[in-house]
Amino acid sequence: MSNDQIGSRKDDHIRINLEEDVSFSQLTTGLESYRFTHQALPEVDLDAVRTDVTFLGKQLNFPLLIGSMTGGSPTAGRLNRILAKAAQKTGVGMALGSIRAALELPQLAWTFQVREVAPDCLLLANLGAIQLNYGYGLEECRRALDMSGADGLILHLNPLQEALQVEGNTRFSGLLHRIETICTGLGAPVIVKEVGHGLSEQAARQLLDAGVAALDVAGAGGTSWSQVELHRSVTPSQQEIAAAFRDWGIPTAEALQQARRAAPTLPLIASGGRHDFDRGCRGAISYSQGPAANRHVRCRRR
Ligand SMILES: Cc1cc2nc3c(=O)[nH]c(=O)nc-3n(C[C@H](O)[C@H](O)[C@H](O)COP(=O)(O)O)c2cc1C
Repeated sequence: MSNDQIGSRKDDHIRINLEEDVSFSQLTTGLESYRFTHQALPEVDLDAVRTDVTFLGKQLNFPLLIGSMTGGSPTAGRLNRILAKAAQKTGVGMALGSIRAALELPQLAWTFQVREVAPDCLLLANLGAIQLNYGYGLEECRRALDMSGADGLILHLNPLQEALQVEGNTRFSGLLHRIETICTGLGAPVIVKEVGHGLSEQAARQLLDAGVAALDVAGAGGTSWSQVELHRSVTPSQQEIAAAFRDWGIPTAEALQQARRAAPTLPLIASGGRHDFDRGCRGAISYSQGPAANRHVRCRRR
């Protein structure tokens, strides 16, 4: 794939997500089935309630991370700076989109360089894990950190999206072992995420054993990447295949439960379809219910 193609794919993704319907048709995150238990007798002063949390060694004012989205084109670079300023100002974390474009074409590095406007925030670089099966290794992962000044690296798993892309990378076998090599050798935290179709219990267990520092379940119910790819596809048969997978994936609430079963003490990021405050808070229980974390928030099934 040429560098021009990578840049234009990044812009395609931004445009399609802004302009087209990329939602699931039936499937939801499942978070709507949960509600907070009202405590008439909280036995804690409101002033004593704290939202700050330490994640990967950095202090966040809230357990929030701006999810991996973009970089690799001038538009994407401007978006990253806006998001980074917001992260710095509010004291939340920020993940960059895949930095592959800049590894291939160093003149795009600036589109991922946000430290100038966000010197203190938890910043995470991002790469497609599948690239480890196409020649990337520790050297590229280290360059991703050096180039962006990030505190850690997110590797994303997106087998459905790759399978639906004409130019997709679909040699999926042997990837786990390569992820383990990065976890062992990078010398910085490695987080693995999906892109909106969820991590299963089996995947979470395998990744825990591989040595990840955290998992982002990126469950289903928000952005459907088969829908995004449908809008990028050109032939009727590509469109038909993409449409068949519109509701594919593990809903966020289920993915969280599966990941927590597999990894009882690992920090989990509860993303996927978190498009409003209410559902966002309900997802936050996943983090707080880990034994290693403070249990400020409790929630139960309706
Ligand atoms: C425009 C756009 C670009 C994205 N690019 C990346 C990326 O480069 N790397 C990645 O790991 N995830 C990427 N994602 C996926 C998101 O991080 C997230 O996992 C996914 O959209 C599911 O969350 P949602 O349902 O809240 O949208 C992107 C999402 C959007 C909307």
